[in-house]
Amino acid sequence: MGKVWELNFSGKAQNVRPSPIREMLSVIRQPGMISFAGGMPAPDVFPVKEFHEGAEVLLRDGQNLLQYGTTEGYAPLKEFLAEWTAPRMGRKVSSDEMLLTSGSQQVLDLMGWAMIDPGDYIITEDPSYLAAFTAFYNHGSRFIGIPTDAEGMVVDTLPETIEKARSQGKKIKFIYTIVNFQNPAGCTLTLERRKKLVDISHRYGIPIFEDDPYGYVRFDGEHLPSIFSLDPEGGVIYAGSFSKILAPGTRIGWCTGSRDIIRKLTVFKQALDLCSSPISQALIYEYCRKGYLDRHLPNIIADYRAKRDAMEESFRKYLPLDEVNWVKPEGGFFYWIHMPRIDAGELFKKAIEKKVAFVTGSPFFANGGGEHNARINYTYSKPDVIEEGVKRLGEAIREML
Ligand SMILES: Cc1ncc(COP(=O)(O)O)c(C=O)c1O
Repeated sequence: MGKVWELNFSGKAQNVRPSPIREMLSVIRQPGMISFAGGMPAPDVFPVKEFHEGAEVLLRDGQNLLQYGTTEGYAPLKEFLAEWTAPRMGRKVSSDEMLLTSGSQQVLDLMGWAMIDPGDYIITEDPSYLAAFTAFYNHGSRFIGIPTDAEGMVVDTLPETIEKARSQGKKIKFIYTIVNFQNPAGCTLTLERRKKLVDISHRYGIPIFEDDPYGYVRFDGEHLPSIFSLDPEGGVIYAGSFSKILAPGTRIGWCTGSRDIIRKLTVFKQALDLCSSPISQALIYEYCRKGYLDRHLPNIIADYRAKRDAMEESFRKYLPLDEVNWVKPEGGFFYWIHMPRIDAGELFKKAIEKKVAFVTGSPFFANGGGEHNARINYTYSKPDVIEEGVKRLGEAIREML
């Protein structure tokens, strides 16, 4: 009996790969470890009391909320979101242009169902979000990586790359971009590049998937228009999330796009989970309806800005400045550091001995690279812990030179 499952596994199951970060995270759960490795919000900024207030909705509307909901999402929350996101989206979208999902991670999987046949190519930033690679890879996709710099994806390289790929018979299904405070690189796509990207998308007939879970967590500078708002032709799907602006335990995200793609994603979602939790959606709605989202967001931003500043200051104080370079992020969760003379995998081992953890750069590249990079999270730890962790990291780096 032992092999009865193995012998019957799908081709997909034979190819599936566990996340390298999850494996790393198990190493770092040791006492005394300072972790810059995860991508988690700080638990002490969760608005527990305000969120709990909304639970009263169960007494008022429990018979409805404890029932199955619609696949499309809880209508009052959709209406709120359409209004709340209008400045970023360029207009108030209608209900059939939006789908509420079980985290924005589900949008990634749904896009796989709707768009990817085995062997298709997705264009991503190099580096990009690891769990996006996994989600698309599970549908059989391959990847073409486009380099990034401080201004986000280097879109000028796209036309040549697309033409070359097409001449080799590669089928490109969409361009996946994390526009604001990218995970892992921390960079934000400039307005000029956003416009160029839309032009390129039109020229080559390749749609864009704009993933934006961090966009509202901006510390400095001005918000930029979404790519969605720059494309009146409807070739952009936008994904957002409550995970970073409220709490990831709500497991609610959304996507906005033209009716045809939203309809397709909705049909696939029916088979995945029938609907996202009506209870969770209603609790979020209660929270938002009372104005807490707008009132609390500045607290989250202030907390993370202070931590970003603590990290910047500690970097300057403790890292060998001629060996490490970075771009100060204007928002989001991560620093992405580059150490031309240091192998990040070796540094990881040394850092773990000193009880500080980060994520090495390589897993964020689909086709190799990142050996000299590290992703460092600053939202989770308190400022004094950040200072101590960077001090240990600086010692580890110095010992390797
Ligand atoms: C770029 C990006 N997209 C999507 C997600 C998924 O977030 P969630 O499913 O919690 O909305 C994350 C989470 O870290 C992310 O970094």
